[in-house]
This record gives sequence, C-alpha cells and structure tokens, in this order.
Amino acid sequence: IPVDPFDLVIFGGTGDLARRKILPGLFRRYCSGQMPENARIIGAARSDMEAHDYAALAAEAIQEFGGGKACEDGTLEKFLTCLDYVTIDARGDRGWSELQARVAGKDRIEAFYFSVAPSLFGDLAERLQSHGMADSKARIVVEKPFGRDLASAQALNATLAKYFDEKQIYRIDHYLGKETVQNLMAVRFGNMLFEPLWNSQFVDHIQITVAETVGVGGRGEYYDKSGAMRDMVQNHLMQLLCLIAMEPPARFSPDAVRDEKLKVIRALDPVEPHHIVRGQYDADPDDPDAMPDYRTAVDNPRSKTESFLALKTHIANWRWAGTPFYLRTGKRLCARSSEISIVFKDTPHSIFGEEAGRHRNVLSIRLQPNEGITLGVTIKEPGPGGMRLIDVPLDMSFADALGPDGAEHVDAYERLIMDVIRGNQTLFMRGDEVEAAWAWTDPIIEGWTKRGDVPKPYDSHGAGPDTSTQLMRRDDREWREITP
Ligand code: BG6
Repeated sequence: IPVDPFDLVIFGGTGDLARRKILPGLFRRYCSGQMPENARIIGAARSDMEAHDYAALAAEAIQEFGGGKACEDGTLEKFLTCLDYVTIDARGDRGWSELQARVAGKDRIEAFYFSVAPSLFGDLAERLQSHGMADSKARIVVEKPFGRDLASAQALNATLAKYFDEKQIYRIDHYLGKETVQNLMAVRFGNMLFEPLWNSQFVDHIQITVAETVGVGGRGEYYDKSGAMRDMVQNHLMQLLCLIAMEPPARFSPDAVRDEKLKVIRALDPVEPHHIVRGQYDADPDDPDAMPDYRTAVDNPRSKTESFLALKTHIANWRWAGTPFYLRTGKRLCARSSEISIVFKDTPHSIFGEEAGRHRNVLSIRLQPNEGITLGVTIKEPGPGGMRLIDVPLDMSFADALGPDGAEHVDAYERLIMDVIRGNQTLFMRGDEVEAAWAWTDPIIEGWTKRGDVPKPYDSHGAGPDTSTQLMRRDDREWREITP
C-alpha cells in the first residue's frame, strides 16, 4: 500500500549514509510501489550542484548499493524525477529561503532527515523553525550517536525539544528496523508456547551476542572516541535486551512498547567491575598490512578504547531477579553473527541418573545472517545402548520455512523511513529511553576510566579475549559458539 504523498529533505544528502542506505532504500520502496509517484526527495548539502547532478549521484549510489534492482526497465529514470537538490549552509543563511519555497505550506507530509553530525542538529532545527518549516506536519529523523553520555544526550534532547514535539522526533536505531529483531516480539507475544517459561523460574541465563568480522575500517577517528560500549551496547544490544526482557505491552503501539522497554532499562543493575571484559583486536598474522591491529587501525598507539566488550548484568524486577544477562559484542571476530540464546534451567530432578549428564534446552534466535530459530531438545540417543541422552536441534531457518518467495527482503533503513512517513514511532527510540540507557552506561565507563583499565588484546578471527570465556566459566556457564 503506497504511503501518503511526502517531501523528504535529506540534510547531508550527498554523504555516505544517503548514498549507501537512504537513496537505495527509497528506490527499492519505489520499485515495490510503496512510494507514491509524486513523492519528492530533496537532497540538501553544502556542495554546489543542480538537481540533475544530484540525480546522477543518486543513480550511481543506487547502481552501487541498491542490489541491482529493476535498473534496466526505466524505473530508475522515473524514480530520479522525484529528486531535487538545494545547496544549503546549516550554520548560515544560504539556501534556506529556497528550501522553504519548495516545501513550506504544501499539503503533504514533510520529513527532514538529519544525516549530519549531531553538532549540527540544533542549527538545522532552529533554521527549520525560523523558516516556517517546523509546523505540526513536520517530522525529523536523527541518527546515533545521541550524545556520548547522559549529560550530552540530555542537552541534545533539550535542543530538539525547543523546536519539535517528541511525537515529531524519530531517533533511528537501525537494529529495530531489522526483520528478525521485530520477530522477537512476534515470537514472544504471538505464541502461547514461550511466554509462560520466560522468567527466572525457568530461564537460567540469557546471552546476547553481536559479533562482527570487520575491523574499524576507515572509521578509526570516530570509533576510537566511542568504543564498543558507546557504539553498540548502549544502543543496539540494549534494544535487543529490552525486547527480550520487557513485559508484554498492552498493544503494539509506539508508547505501549516504548514504556515497557524503558522499564527494563531503568531496572538494570549497575555492573560490577569484575563482570566486564574489554578487548582490542590484534593484527591478522596472515595479512597484517590489510588487517592491522586495533591501535594501528585507529592510529593511536596508546588507545585504551575497546573493540570488544562482554559483560554480565541483572534486571532487578520480579520476572528476572536471579537470571543473569550476558552481553557480548566485538569487531574482527571469527564470524558475523548476531544471536540471542535463552538457556533454560536443568530439569528439577533427573530420573536418568548422574550419568545422563546435564542437558539444557536452549532457544536460539539468530538475527543475522541466516535468520531463524533453533530449539535444543534433549532426546534418547538412538540405538541399543540404554537410556543415554543427547541434545538435538529443532531447527527452523526462516528462509527454508518461508521459501524463496516467502519473505521480501526489506533493509532496516527502508522500513524505518516508510515508518516515518506513516507516522509510526514504534521502532524508534524515545528521548527518555536514550537517556535511561546512558544513565546505566555512564558509571560503567567512568569506572573503567578511573581504574585506568587497559583492554586485553585478542586474536583476530577468534571469539575475543580469554577473560571473556572466564567470565562465563566462573559461573559454570559457556558462551555459545560464534558461527556464521
Ligand atoms: C553501527 C555501528 O551502528 O552498527 C558499527 O556504528 C557496526 O560499528 C554496525 O558495524 C553494525 O550493524 P549491522 O547492521 O552490520 O549489524
């Protein structure tokens, strides 16, 4: 179903995110008939160029990052007619009256994507207002980082709140736009099977792993000031934790869902220093030039920033008291894999005796790649050898279950942009959520900074530092293997 007519202004319209994600994503929505023919996408950036130059830039970006969809049959040309461009100075006057003339006062949805450094958010918001574009139809889309601690996040929220109502602010965490991340809610609240067991009475512990094979690449300057905690845990892993741990919302509506997520964040216990493991990757011994160690990659020989983080935390509420949550994320690990595993408790009594060993049901939800669900079930080992038990997976790959045509691949960004146009904030972070997440994160970072903690080196293409394995072993538990 096509969304209503809209104008989408992309500040930073010539930048990396616009080229890699926003423009190709919009094109795919256009191809699928969801973007109305009269929608307009207006690139706005500092470079001097005309609309036709911007269309050429978009065409190139779509060829490169768009997955080659429908580029031959004239669809791309039609899409490009929706594009326009305004040269704009975020901190000056240039271009604002021109932009105003194109979008203000039209009877259509106006969305402004701030695909620029957060230090410019205030300038853009203020100029949108002074040029009559911050009316109640306007929506703004902002990307992380939403601050680097609680104080800066509060300042950023306060700046935006001067010009826009919370209902107009769409804070993107692209993990929330991933198909299987939404499936977490479908699995939990669309089935009777799991929810009665989803608590500390039955669940021994929960593991959340987001492993990447890439290093910091060309983003060293940004990354070295952030590290895995600020770059991944405070946002993406926190969102996964919330979706796994939250109470069932009364309905699938933006504030009902976000209220429940907020309660989880606020119930998180502080993390003990000995429950935190930080690491920095070593060079790939086979190709140290292409894959140098972390400190070389970020050009900071004394860097104390972590490219790997594992920690154990607890949620202090009735449902989860006593069930630890282990979070782990890192770069340059052995496989790209994001997985959440719910590890159930042992049966209260084993009728098969000690020799049957310990068998636990594990429900694993694979977010990427190869999305699917596996439930580890204990059965009798086939054969005449008596009552020996083994664990076998009940394995459901979504691709297999739904067939090749069963699931349209929709990238996180294209889904989220369409949600902005539809005015649905369910998959966007509310300001108080972001602040609560920083309130939990800040003391952890302050703690290791004060202690002068230095991250442990770890092998490229492994599973992180040994201390991460020990974090689990100390509790008589094991991380799940990181497999592609
Ligand atoms: C981004 C981080 O938010 O998420 C990157 O800044 C990280 O460092 C990326 O690589 C991971 O996203 P995905 O979708 O590839 O899992």
